[in-house]
Amino acid sequence: MNIKSFPLILTMSILLIVPPCIYAQHKTIDQRVDSLLSLMTLEEKIGQMNQYSGFWEATGPITEQGNKLEQVRNGQLGSLLNITGYEHTHELQEMALQSRLKIPLLFGQDVIHGYRTQFPIPLAEAASWDLEAIELSARIAAIEAAAAGVHWTFAPMVDIGRDPRWGRVMEGAGEDPYLGSLIAAARVKGFQGKGYGNTDAVMACVKHFAAYGASESGRDYNSVDMSYRMLNEIYLRPYKAAVDAGAATVMNSFNDINGIPATANSYIQRDLLKGQWKFGGFVVSDWGSIGEMINHGYSKDCYQAAQQAITAGSDMDMESRCYIGSLAQLVKDGKADARLVDDAVRRILTKKFEMGLFDDPFKYSNKEREKQQWNNPDNLRASRDMAKKSIVLLKNEKQLLPLDTKKKTIAMIGPLVKAVRDNIGFWSYAWPDDTARIVTQFDGVKNRAGKNITLTYAKGCGISDSSKAGFAQAVKIAKQADIVILSIGEAGNMSGEAKSRSNIHLPGVQEDLVKAVCATGKPVIVLINAGRPLVFNWTADHAQAILYTWWLGTKAGEAIADVLFGDYNPSGKLPMTFPRSEGQIPIYYNHFSTGRPPKSETDVNYVSAYIDLPNSPKFPFGYGLSYTTFKYSEPVLNRSTINASEKLQVKVSITNTGNYDGKETVQLYIRDLVGSVVRPVKQLIGFQQVFLKKGETKEITFNIGVDDLKFYDNNVNLVAEPGDFEVFVGGSSATELKKTFTLL
Ligand code: NOJ
Repeated sequence: MNIKSFPLILTMSILLIVPPCIYAQHKTIDQRVDSLLSLMTLEEKIGQMNQYSGFWEATGPITEQGNKLEQVRNGQLGSLLNITGYEHTHELQEMALQSRLKIPLLFGQDVIHGYRTQFPIPLAEAASWDLEAIELSARIAAIEAAAAGVHWTFAPMVDIGRDPRWGRVMEGAGEDPYLGSLIAAARVKGFQGKGYGNTDAVMACVKHFAAYGASESGRDYNSVDMSYRMLNEIYLRPYKAAVDAGAATVMNSFNDINGIPATANSYIQRDLLKGQWKFGGFVVSDWGSIGEMINHGYSKDCYQAAQQAITAGSDMDMESRCYIGSLAQLVKDGKADARLVDDAVRRILTKKFEMGLFDDPFKYSNKEREKQQWNNPDNLRASRDMAKKSIVLLKNEKQLLPLDTKKKTIAMIGPLVKAVRDNIGFWSYAWPDDTARIVTQFDGVKNRAGKNITLTYAKGCGISDSSKAGFAQAVKIAKQADIVILSIGEAGNMSGEAKSRSNIHLPGVQEDLVKAVCATGKPVIVLINAGRPLVFNWTADHAQAILYTWWLGTKAGEAIADVLFGDYNPSGKLPMTFPRSEGQIPIYYNHFSTGRPPKSETDVNYVSAYIDLPNSPKFPFGYGLSYTTFKYSEPVLNRSTINASEKLQVKVSITNTGNYDGKETVQLYIRDLVGSVVRPVKQLIGFQQVFLKKGETKEITFNIGVDDLKFYDNNVNLVAEPGDFEVFVGGSSATELKKTFTLL
């Protein structure tokens, strides 16, 4: 980027001729927005609705580079994304202050799971079910990003993901609307801290509104077609939770919903979001999504697209240039109501005032704070803690794990043992010193193992390789070792935006590598690194121990070693169902019952089943083991009926029956046995995390009220219907520990 600095003297003189109303701090924000709006030309207003990407890190085609800086100086740009760091944000803000009304820029950025300190990918964090830790992760990301001049993060992504082919499941919290809603709210709170406007906070942007996660066939940017009932009951809930938690902004989505692109969807943006939900912030389009309505075949040209988008409540145009190119003409032609423009600009300016940017346009980018946050040890510690909590133990035969440090040889094999960048996954920042600061899994294990342990290494194969040439060496070191740790999976950039996969098996010849190594007869621990649930049946059936490690961020290597050696007893629980085959997708635990449910896993007698595969997943939602074992008592209900004003108490005792202290996530599900619309076979309505010392028992109490039993009926009204319910308690969605009660 080649931006000339502007002499301080020029900046000072500009500040002196700023219309006084803008800086009249004694007025309310509404009054200040009103006075500013009254001074603005239509073109200046539309400028505020215009957003471009900076000069690098694009996630879509950049429309034009040429006149961006000119437009900043002319007040034709309200916001930039992909500009970070003191130097860049400062220089561009100075340019914006040369515009007639000196309206500061908003700097937006995809700070999805950390900024300098990379945290686990959001799907991995969701596996922790630890809302405090997730909030802290977002808090730290906000502190680091704000210090680098970022005002606004395009997060949290709260799209429900029921289809692991869709690469963007890595950005969300998985498949469940209840867990997803709690995590959405936690992330908003984390990003916005005690309130945006403080220099340690950024504005959150809930995305992608709406139902982007239901993209047909798991293919990114694809269509969504679903009933409004389903939309409300499953997909909208996390967005609503994020809005209720105070999210400052919302980003709409690329997909159409029932034939209307989300970007031009008045029901979604005007009726629901800004109407029923009373959302007072602004809506930014997704990258180019206004212009893309031409490709959708919904708009003839940018002129029509801009008209449709503004009418439907899209306030800011990210990178399509349709607003800057056509909105003024639309207003002049009487095709777009000038009041809609005013409403959009009012929403945007209000946020700029609330951020305090009119009082101090440079308040966020701060060299000193930026330096303090660089490699901040507390942040790194929190990242390691989050990483440990995100790992899910899928299998641990004969208690192979945790490892001890007695004399032995461990062979580390696989394409990800020495990976660096992959560990931080998609939507992360490549810093020039990554290789030096990110500890590989090999080094993480080596540093922890101590001198008794001899560590050997063979790559075996590359991630997507078709060659087995490296197998011989891998087998050789496996034979010489006492234990093998195999690190396999996807590359860090195989999940994320535009990373749909039709085949979600382990890429390349990796499963053959597992077979070759297992054939040595040595005990094999497998680490699976991925941004989505993968299919790995042979490995799941034959390896003795499996840890699903996702992408864990800057401290991945150390966190994995913490878990391997038992310094942390794994506690993660899957936030998505793991299929046996792509043919089962979409697969999710809270599905409806059909009229012909199979009687058993092998029942194929004219029932809703596959003749070549059980219906059940390989690993269910909510599943995850510990190095210890937990025993659940029968749940005890304090009553068998409740009315709408009463609470039902569910008590269950959990005992740590194994050999280690450990944490269990106790999950509470219900099934509404008969409804005016078909109800899911199970539905998560609560969970609690309990830490139990070896041998310890604790009693957990859940309270169920009528609100927990509500659902959307056929007229899309939220109702609770009297009738019988089952209530389940357990360590995963597969639990069969249940009792029944009646809502009167
Ligand atoms: C497109 C992505 O869909 C969205 O999530 C992201 O925030 C924008 N690009 C900006 O990078």
